[in-house]
Amino acid sequence: MNLNDVIARSLDFFSQQLKLRDIRIIMDLEENLPMIKADPNHLEQVFVNLLINARDAIEEQHNRTPGAQQEGQITIRTHSKRRSVSAEVRDTGTGIPMT
Ligand SMILES: Nc1ncnc2c1ncn2[C@@H]1O[C@H](COP(=O)(O)OP(=O)(O)OP(=O)(O)O)[C@@H](O)[C@H]1O
Ligand SMILES: [Mg+2]
Repeated sequence: MNLNDVIARSLDFFSQQLKLRDIRIIMDLEENLPMIKADPNHLEQVFVNLLINARDAIEEQHNRTPGAQQEGQITIRTHSKRRSVSAEVRDTGTGIPMT
C-alpha cells in the first residue's frame, strides 16, 4: 500500500472536522512513494489520532491566547529515501517540549 493513500483516507474522514474549526491543512506529499507493507486500516487510525491531537493542541493554543488571530494549520509531509518512507505531521498548536 501507499502511505499517501492512507493519509488521503484519514483526511476523508477528518477534514470536515478541521474545516469547521477553520484549521487549514497543508499537504506536501512526495509523488510515487514506494509501496510499504503495513495494515492500511491500522495506519489510517494512526493518522486520525495524530490529526485529533493536532486539532486539540491548536484549540488549546487558541484558548491560551484568545486575542491572537493566528490561523490554525496542520502540515502533512511524506518523503522517501533509500529503502524507507516517512511522514511528518506538524501543527501550530501548543507544541511539545523537546526535553
Ligand atoms: N500535537 C500535539 N501538540 C501538543 N501536545 C500534544 C500533541 N499530541 C499530543 N500531545 C500531548 O500528549 C498527550 C498525550 O496524547 P495522547 O493522544 O496519548 O492522549 P490524549 O490526546 O490526551 O487522549 P486520547 O487521545 O486518548 O483521547 C496529550 O494530552 C497532549 O498533552
Ligand atoms: Mg490523543
